[in-house]
Amino acid sequence: MRDLESRTAERRFLFPFTGKAVAPAPVWLMRQAGRYLPEYRKVRAQAGSFLKLCYSPELAAEVTLQPIRRFGFDAAILFSDILVVPDALGQTVRFEEGEGPRLDPIRALDDLGRLALSKTGAKFSLVCETVARLRQDLPRETALIGFCGAPWTVATYVVEGRGSADQSAARHWAYRDPQGFSQLVELLTDASIEYLSGQVRAGADALQIFDSWAGSLADDQFERWVIAPTAKIVQAMRARHPGVPIIGFPRGASAMLTRYIEATGVDGVSCDTSCPLGVMQKKARSGTVVQGNLDPLLLLTGGDALDRRVEEICASMNGLPFVFNLGHGIVPDTPPENVARVVERLRAKG
Ligand code: CP3
Repeated sequence: MRDLESRTAERRFLFPFTGKAVAPAPVWLMRQAGRYLPEYRKVRAQAGSFLKLCYSPELAAEVTLQPIRRFGFDAAILFSDILVVPDALGQTVRFEEGEGPRLDPIRALDDLGRLALSKTGAKFSLVCETVARLRQDLPRETALIGFCGAPWTVATYVVEGRGSADQSAARHWAYRDPQGFSQLVELLTDASIEYLSGQVRAGADALQIFDSWAGSLADDQFERWVIAPTAKIVQAMRARHPGVPIIGFPRGASAMLTRYIEATGVDGVSCDTSCPLGVMQKKARSGTVVQGNLDPLLLLTGGDALDRRVEEICASMNGLPFVFNLGHGIVPDTPPENVARVVERLRAKG
């Protein structure tokens, strides 16, 4: 792995991570590959199932490249899913059409034996093969972001067996039997470290840790289930792969942002839609790279409302180390023209 300085020279996305602001701000969008693109729907149909797509290096690389070809984003994000980790550990994951993920729930310590780190090799290798292909096929100037789900967020799916409104099954286990629940979180933490390491060895330039349900925890629980495992992942990655920037996305937890940044050691934070621009500005001034935070719904709305908000975000972050992104993923009904419009307007500012 070449050091950050030399990779930065060719990839603008990495600039802010060396402390330099760059105009126009680098841009990529969460869920930039996905159902809003007709070319994605075609490959998705060809793959048969969503997980088959994730485990097919050729097709997964293809759908990662689609939004880069169309919009010329500064970074590509590996096409995979946060639920690849429990699937590879041995908990069968299915994606039902229109219903989201389904897993056979693990509700208590007795069920945990179904999962094992030793099972992950073959499936993790397929994802790493996608990364290696991408590093060959991407333009030199496009950075490649690898990712995993944060242990807390992945645990909510493992325990609930599906997405849920309040993550109560996982939160309840964590209160009832913290020792048992910590065994699950530790397993997910160790698996995530192996998974991310493999992605970096295969060619990922930067990493993002998605903690989509960080906002559902009380502050003492946040310390234990968000901060501690994330800090462990960051430390392990620093030791193994110095110079690979790590971005955390503690969605819904703006009130804990300062603590999150200080205690986990992440280089950057992806800010959700509700994070005030003033808070993002303050974090950027103190040296954290911030990423965000356009409301994905404005990409449905389009027009002046979209343009105005893009302007506001850029004006607020002007001259600070910043990456333009959404506050959450692109929604399936998004007209691709609106995505193109945002990229054009950002580039026109250069
Ligand atoms: O382009 C990218 O951003 C990279 C690929 C990516 C996907 N999922 C592809 C995907 C990434 C980084 C994720 C992360 C992810 N997956 C998160 C964290 C971010 C967030 O959205 O909060 C979570 C919670 C998941 C779990 C997950 N995957 C759910 C709940 C669903 C169903 C909801 C839905 O949108 O359908 C998925 C499926 C999924 N992951 C799709 C895509 C493109 C759609 C499935 C399809 O094509 O049939």
